[in-house]
Amino acid sequence: MENKSNLKYVLIGAGIRGRAYTKAAIEEHGCQVVAVADPNEATRNFVRDTYNVPQEMCFESYEQLLSLGKIADFAMICTQDKMHVAPALMAIEQGYDLLLEKPAAPTPEECMQICKAAEAKGVRVLICHVLRYTQFFRTVKEIIDSGRIGKIMSIIHTEGVGNVHYSHSYVRGNWHNSKESSNMLLAKSCHDLDILQWLIGGNCKKIQSFGGLHYFKKENAPEGAPKRCLDGCPHEKTCPYHVNKIYLPEEMFHFAEIARPAAAKKVDPTDEEVRKALDTTNYGVCVFQSDNDVVDHQTVNMEFDNGETVVFTMAAFNFGTRRIRIMGTKGELSSEDMNNITLNLFCEDDPTSEYFGKPRTMQIATSKPGFDQTIIGGHGGGDRGIVDDLCLYFGEDTKTKSISSIRTSIMNHMLVFAAEESRATNTVVDVDEFVKKYNQ
Ligand SMILES: NC(=O)c1ccc[n+]([C@@H]2O[C@H](COP(=O)([O-])OP(=O)(O)OC[C@H]3O[C@@H](n4cnc5c(N)ncnc54)[C@H](O)[C@@H]3O)[C@@H](O)[C@H]2O)c1
Repeated sequence: MENKSNLKYVLIGAGIRGRAYTKAAIEEHGCQVVAVADPNEATRNFVRDTYNVPQEMCFESYEQLLSLGKIADFAMICTQDKMHVAPALMAIEQGYDLLLEKPAAPTPEECMQICKAAEAKGVRVLICHVLRYTQFFRTVKEIIDSGRIGKIMSIIHTEGVGNVHYSHSYVRGNWHNSKESSNMLLAKSCHDLDILQWLIGGNCKKIQSFGGLHYFKKENAPEGAPKRCLDGCPHEKTCPYHVNKIYLPEEMFHFAEIARPAAAKKVDPTDEEVRKALDTTNYGVCVFQSDNDVVDHQTVNMEFDNGETVVFTMAAFNFGTRRIRIMGTKGELSSEDMNNITLNLFCEDDPTSEYFGKPRTMQIATSKPGFDQTIIGGHGGGDRGIVDDLCLYFGEDTKTKSISSIRTSIMNHMLVFAAEESRATNTVVDVDEFVKKYNQ
């Protein structure tokens, strides 16, 4: 896409996500990062040196940066989950449009606070629901909107987190404990509930959820496993989660590209820095002996206002991919890999087609072979896609089909909170009643 926007922005949180969007914004769109805030000196200096940010525009915290007033077209907020709301409200107050990492905030109250503040100030807030911006989901949405599969009746959607990814992020890493960060559905699957609402185009009325943490627990630790893998674990060879298989070079999985910087909190850490992190932080702890509390599998059932039903499952126990099956009155769309789509039409109704009047099966590839839909590969083009659309939206006020208002994004976060209420109370939650409690 040729879209040189030259927008200026300030970066708050120069971690893994902040650097990923920054690379796309600057290298693909000619944007300019004019100031950066991050207490981590190494990552802050990386942005300073790579993108020529003057030293006097590099800050240890967002408060210092935002106290300068509005000095750019928009702000990118990529701090950790519990640190979105304070910089977001401050930046909105200054009149910044925002690219705000998901989840917008960890509670329904704070989500509504951001929504109302943005609406009152008249600024645009784009939540990083990156799946909307992938070629795969844009194609699925186009097919649905074209009417080819008729009216959607039912969707089965699965998010396979991937066992190694799960162990890194949700047993050992930033999102392992809901008190310190977010619950699992909010941290990982707010994308999925957002995309399901977007594809159906209606409002979810009833929601129900089951799930729990059943496997990554102390009682499942193999006999003799020490607290830390590197303290001579006798199960090194057969445990898929031994740190040598994930973080250290002996048997590194491809996931190491993201796992090593996250563990060592450095852009490109040495083995020594990674080993130090494994000896001293939660990243070196046995996956059965961490202080994790987030679920390792969960289902959500939903009913939408036109009778559409959805069954969603998130689970750690797979190699990692999303799978979707959308059943419509005129056909079925399915994909096993977030790339190749199978379209089964019950009766081709295009009179110009050689299949006119007959059942028809079509295969549609949405990306080139070898594309990577994981976080390492930029979420199947979603990380780059959201920056493409952001530049149009914040630059020329062109709203693409993928972009949603802050209210829609927040209402889709509300589905997550309602599902969690259902799981906690063992009830079916009426979504309108649930939202009313927070939207006075
Ligand atoms: N959209 C997606 O698909 C997706 C994928 C992964 C993560 N995320 C979300 O992105 C966010 C960031 O994740 P990450 O993996 O980049 O985390 P990270 O820990 O690598 O980055 C967060 C950065 O914020 C910095 N920070 C801490 N306090 C600060 C302050 N006061 N002022 C400014 N910066 C401060 C940290 O030093 C760190 O560099 C999280 O909310 C996460 O849930 C989104």
